[in-house]
Amino acid sequence: MHIYTQTEVTEFCMEGRFLDFVIKDGYKLKGLLLSTSEGECYVKLAKHLRSTFDLRLPKGTWLQVVGTKQHDFKKDKLTLKAERVMAAREEMSKQPALQNQNQPKPAKTQTILVCQKSDCMKRGGKALCQALESELRNNGLEDNVIIKGTGCMKNCKAGPNLLMPDKTRYSKIQAAQVPALIDKHFGSEIQEQSKNVAVPQFAKV
Ligand code: FES
Repeated sequence: MHIYTQTEVTEFCMEGRFLDFVIKDGYKLKGLLLSTSEGECYVKLAKHLRSTFDLRLPKGTWLQVVGTKQHDFKKDKLTLKAERVMAAREEMSKQPALQNQNQPKPAKTQTILVCQKSDCMKRGGKALCQALESELRNNGLEDNVIIKGTGCMKNCKAGPNLLMPDKTRYSKIQAAQVPALIDKHFGSEIQEQSKNVAVPQFAKV
């Protein structure tokens, strides 16, 4: 039996020394290079951090990074995405200005559970996952809402099956219905997203 496991998303928390910024097109901040106990690693910054990060962060600063780790089994690729970046404990006493006490907490991550077993996959589950991923991305929700594969939800004949973060279950749901579904469940977040003004994690002084 084929088991569809395209991606797996888990949370991570790591510490490391800041080595450098990763910049695209000469000006767009994409992420950070860190030196950790496991070697040098690249951490992509979530959208709400990118536009507000203080680019004067000194190299060598000891940081703690919390975020999500996405393992794409198909491409055998691991992507780390930072949702919060803070001065690590030992550094805090030395650099209190790094943290802005007034900063808002990043939006809580919500999870959509999608059955990844063969009956649901045969009935359109793969296209459903792809539609969910692209709809979340199109609405700027990819940092706040994650899609997680599950085992059989015991409703195989009515697949594909999914469970929204508010525990609403959907059966026989197809890719074409995804835009309406996302709008129904995340309409308020989508509106917020469009008028969202991010506040820096690292305050500019
Ligand atoms: S295979 Fe999806 S509910 Fe059983």
